[in-house]
Amino acid sequence: MTAQTERPRRLTLGALVHGCGGHIAGWGHPDARPDGQLDFPFHADLARTLERGRFDALFVADVVAIRGHQLDSLSRTGRAEHFEPLTLLAALSLVTEHIGLAATATTTYNHPFHIARKFASLDHLSAGRAGWNVVTSVAPLEAANFGHDTHLAHELRYRRADEFVQVVKALWDSFDDDAVVRDKATGRYYDPAGLRTPHHRGEHFAVRGPLNISRAPQGHPVLFQAGSCETGREFAARHGEVLFTTQHELGAAQAFYADVKARAAAHGRDPDQVLVWPGLTPLVAPTEADARRRLAELQDLIHDDVARRLVQDHIGDIDLTGHPVDGPLPDIPDTNRSRSRRELLLKSAHDEKLTMRELAHRLAAGSVVAGTPEQIADHIETWFRARAADGFNVSFPYLPGPAEDFVDHVVPLLQQRGLFPTAYEGTTLRENLGLPRPVARARHLEEAGR
Ligand SMILES: Cc1cc2nc3c(=O)[nH]c(=O)nc-3n(C[C@H](O)[C@H](O)[C@H](O)COP(=O)(O)O)c2cc1C
Repeated sequence: MTAQTERPRRLTLGALVHGCGGHIAGWGHPDARPDGQLDFPFHADLARTLERGRFDALFVADVVAIRGHQLDSLSRTGRAEHFEPLTLLAALSLVTEHIGLAATATTTYNHPFHIARKFASLDHLSAGRAGWNVVTSVAPLEAANFGHDTHLAHELRYRRADEFVQVVKALWDSFDDDAVVRDKATGRYYDPAGLRTPHHRGEHFAVRGPLNISRAPQGHPVLFQAGSCETGREFAARHGEVLFTTQHELGAAQAFYADVKARAAAHGRDPDQVLVWPGLTPLVAPTEADARRRLAELQDLIHDDVARRLVQDHIGDIDLTGHPVDGPLPDIPDTNRSRSRRELLLKSAHDEKLTMRELAHRLAAGSVVAGTPEQIADHIETWFRARAADGFNVSFPYLPGPAEDFVDHVVPLLQQRGLFPTAYEGTTLRENLGLPRPVARARHLEEAGR
């Protein structure tokens, strides 16, 4: 990594862009624009709004499959269709100037050469604004689209991901920064001494290289990651530069923050160069009562089938079809999924005597913070100062209204409080996030590979 001028710790913000919004029933809200889901002008306007709010990045998630077996309940959500993220981001790069453009690409159903090439291309197209959210795929349904009967086992997915990322980085370092000279006088398009061939041979991949595109403006596009289990956190601490997490409580978020920073340090990394971004879904209104009413309106839009499905997805291995949503949860048998989150949900449902619908509402609310602009700014400031977050991955319950509200009413407060800048400081996503530009290390890798 190159040395970079130290800058004081400051809040960073990314926005999760999903045409139908982050709330499961958001697409059905009277002011929502579900027609925007596959509409480029809608996305272009949204990106410009976020850029007006000086968001550091926008992020497009991805699953390479339709999102669920249960087509009945799926058909009542806006989750069945979405743009292929890199195609969308390439188009958005032309109508924006500053905002970072990050997308998910899975290491389980892709090949490193394709991914290195696509993200390097996006980084060139956007003049240094690309980011890659490295995932190992959460949806087993993806396997069936790529010739597999079952999803690759969790540990194996992460082993493959680790090798995948190493290969991608080596490919990104194929050309030295100054190798492509395009010198008509000497007749050299590039200096052959500045081109490195990775010659990678590993457990999962054999990739000779080099990459067929010159080194990207950022050296490497910024790596986003969201590992949360033991293996996932280790992976994130080794490679991730922006870490997404779904923490809803301050104490747990602080513990996660301290844990991943310590893991990054143990891997010889500077913990300040690993940014932790919990999710935040702001619902802004002039008064707290208005905000609560708006959230209740959204929750009321959740269809019974979707409520059942939400609960089922979180507790697993039980069919809730036919169970009354306004009654208590039926007895849930033990499952070999044994997950701490599941146990926690079942315990709170039991202790607080929640109906299935109430539990579904709680799950759907997720990271929603409904309140006045001051309350939402307070939440952000508290989490930032308490080192529970370096920034937030902000999603909006529906679009575009809540994104405009956040930009017009919350961002100015963060700026007045000196937490968030009023203008973009750098030209690349790395510069705006305060992350250093990696130096090419291909020469060293080439020697190691031989
Ligand atoms: C904000 C956020 C965005 C995510 N986006 C995706 C995505 O687009 N595609 C995907 O397959 N998984 C996505 N994930 C899932 C993570 O990659 C990861 O698998 C999950 O957090 C569970 O962690 P684990 O793999 O350590 O068990 C996302 C997670 C979070 C918190």
